[in-house]
Amino acid sequence: MRFRNTMIREVSSVSRFPRLLMLVSIFMICALSCLAIRDARGQCSELTRVDSAHALPSGIEIQSGPGILRVLALRSDVLRFTMSDTGQLPTEGSWAVLESARLARTPVTPFSNPGAVGFDTGMLKVSVARSTMAITVTDASGHVLMQDASPVHFYKSDAEGDTGFMVWKKMPHDEHYFGLGGKAAPLDHRGWQFTMWNTDHPGWFRGTDPLYKDVPYFMAFRAGKAYGLLLDNTWRSTFDFGKERRNEFSFGAEGGPLRYYFFYGPTPKQVEEEYAWLTGTMPLPPKWSLGYQQSRWSYGTEAEVRSIADHLRKDRIPADVIYMDIDYQVHNRPFTVDQQKFPDFPALVQDLAKKKIHLVMITDLHIAYLPGQNYMPFITGEEGNHFLHNPNGSLFVGDVWPGPAVFPDFTQQSTRQWWGTLYKQFYSYGVGGFWNDMNEPSVFNTPSKTIPLDVVGQIKGPGFATRMATQREIHNIMGIENSRATFDGLLALKPNQRPFVLTRSSFAGGQRYAATWTGDNSSSWSQLRLSTPMLENLGLSGFYMAGDDIGGFAGSPQMDLLTKWMEVGAFNPIDRDHTEKGSNPQEPWVGGPQQEAIRRHYIDTRYRLLPYFYTEVEEASRTGIPVMRPLFLDFPDATADKHPLDDDVPNEFLFGPDLLIAPARYPDEVQNYEVTFPPEPWYDFWTGKEVAQSPAAGPGEDALQTTIVTPALDVLPVFAKGGSVIPMQALVQSTEQAPDGPLELRVYPGPNCHGSLYDDDGVSLSYERGDYLRVAYTCESSPRQITLRISAQQGSYPAWWKKIQVSIFGWHPEQVQAELDGKPIAGAKYDPEQASVEVEIPQNANGETLTLRTE
Ligand code: NOJ
Repeated sequence: MRFRNTMIREVSSVSRFPRLLMLVSIFMICALSCLAIRDARGQCSELTRVDSAHALPSGIEIQSGPGILRVLALRSDVLRFTMSDTGQLPTEGSWAVLESARLARTPVTPFSNPGAVGFDTGMLKVSVARSTMAITVTDASGHVLMQDASPVHFYKSDAEGDTGFMVWKKMPHDEHYFGLGGKAAPLDHRGWQFTMWNTDHPGWFRGTDPLYKDVPYFMAFRAGKAYGLLLDNTWRSTFDFGKERRNEFSFGAEGGPLRYYFFYGPTPKQVEEEYAWLTGTMPLPPKWSLGYQQSRWSYGTEAEVRSIADHLRKDRIPADVIYMDIDYQVHNRPFTVDQQKFPDFPALVQDLAKKKIHLVMITDLHIAYLPGQNYMPFITGEEGNHFLHNPNGSLFVGDVWPGPAVFPDFTQQSTRQWWGTLYKQFYSYGVGGFWNDMNEPSVFNTPSKTIPLDVVGQIKGPGFATRMATQREIHNIMGIENSRATFDGLLALKPNQRPFVLTRSSFAGGQRYAATWTGDNSSSWSQLRLSTPMLENLGLSGFYMAGDDIGGFAGSPQMDLLTKWMEVGAFNPIDRDHTEKGSNPQEPWVGGPQQEAIRRHYIDTRYRLLPYFYTEVEEASRTGIPVMRPLFLDFPDATADKHPLDDDVPNEFLFGPDLLIAPARYPDEVQNYEVTFPPEPWYDFWTGKEVAQSPAAGPGEDALQTTIVTPALDVLPVFAKGGSVIPMQALVQSTEQAPDGPLELRVYPGPNCHGSLYDDDGVSLSYERGDYLRVAYTCESSPRQITLRISAQQGSYPAWWKKIQVSIFGWHPEQVQAELDGKPIAGAKYDPEQASVEVEIPQNANGETLTLRTE
């Protein structure tokens, strides 16, 4: 009551007319919010004032009529908001957020004044206006980071009585939005609206929404600073970034908890790390999954699979994986092998292993509905009550590849465990990994093309109170829980082997279990262009191991398109060529030796970069910073007004911190194009020549430099950052082949020059017990001297190299003297062809310092 008097006192000090106007506009805003929402019974409710508030050790709880808002600080930079209109907060439990994060708390300093209540974490201040319930989050210096635009709105969303909600926030004119999983949209989501409802949409194109994966997390980036927001809700939800209301963004769901996490950078990389803290990272994958992967729907006989492997090896196309699509099965029944087409499957797996090629087999989640036909997955699944049911208690049966099929109830822990056991035989043969497809789930014969909303499953397992749930709640997590069951099952079967799972559908946190790809794209130039922003947003959404169907799934690519796609694909985290049934062959050799030579060159480069690539993957597995990433992640301040540089150059991306990849913006066009560099020195990776200096910029100016590229079929522009040390190796045909030759260290002088190298056995979990190798590099350069320091090796894993070939770019001395740990060594020389100074030094696990001088 105290605040109401205060408000009236404040209002009475202004003239009558504005007061009336204000009341009318408050009424209008509330009424409009209510009207704007579809509401079957014409009901809605909003939390519009603070009735009472009480401080909690780590936050605050506020009553507003029957409504409650609870805000908790999990860390000084991570907040959790939970709201309800029923007098009771939603129960705990999350498919996305790790328990360790959910239970974390940090003490806060509460405050209360006539206008607002809230608390301070030291980094963030949350205040809730007493008169409107509007939430404002500011940083320590009082800058507004996020602010409600209108009252939160609850409404009855369907005949079942589910309560939906909508939240509106003010949208500054210079804020930009990223993430949300694999949306077929530009990198920056400003001006777009999205639905989160996992959907199999064959033949999708730019703007098709929703698609296979929905991750209700976005990063907001404004004037060089970033925060993240994760809506922890699995129901059909929507995100709108100024499409519906020009100056507001909004999010809401048709049911389930109104619970969202706010996490503040200020750097975009910190936001990514916080998202990883909340939802986990993808564990280190097997090294072989970094290799080139060959697929098609389908290599349908044992002989065909063998001939593909032979062809790859004969043509010296490095490769690590061949995929087996659905036709290896008996009538498309998961976990069967057609003996006619694959007479000796275990021998096939072993023979490929001798060629250092792994098989990845598709295992769709739909289990063929075959009562009484001795099909074990159906028999054991039914015995264990592992399938979803119709509301009347009968099994839900829908048509997919095998014909009538049933669907595992993956929100039950017992079902996930049962699913994991289905891999026992395949895994015992030595199959490398598994492919979980169709898991949105896709159903052919229902109007919605998925499982109907009223189909029922059970939520049962750690972290949740046991209860029944319909597809309304669990549809969006069928994919993540399918891949979780596969991942956990493989780990249970081989506890010291890193599982590899590729999933099509997933949800926030799904990176903990599987790599992913963008689904059924098409063989068109425009889809090649769309690939980069989609993979960048997947990376920002936690899926740092992501790729697309290189060459396109639907249709057959022109040969130049396939070549260009393979060039870019060599710098995507997953490099997998895949196509649909009935399309033309799409392997690297298709189109003749000239095309093949270009494609081979790029795949070779990927393999030569493996020490660098694996180091970045290992870092991503710890930090969540994606390997393939937009420029603004590393260069948030690159432009004068601090808008994301990627908005100007959406074709460019970073592959790790040190390589900038710059395909043409319109890859089918032949006009020259401009490459823009973030403010560092840059070197042409192919020629070693310096192409951009680190420019000085005055206040209000940007420090960007450009170069003009003339497109050519065989050229993908790649640039190395000045100030980096990039480890490389001799060419191998498989990631499991030991390189024959020295470790190569490419030193690109520049500010803050450093690099690192990580290695381990590539397959086991021994690295968790210290059996890895980590080395750090730093370098200093002046016109007369360059010093490269190699740290002592950390970890017990032995280096495969005996010698290190050091190449120093951007330095052209006529004479050069070299010293290793203060003692002169011979052999250092400038190589004009490489545009680099070359010197070879022995490997020393204790570390060493190389100094090069010129007179
Ligand atoms: C759909 C997948 O997206 C595609 O990659 C696969 O080839 C087909 N299913 C057949 O399994």
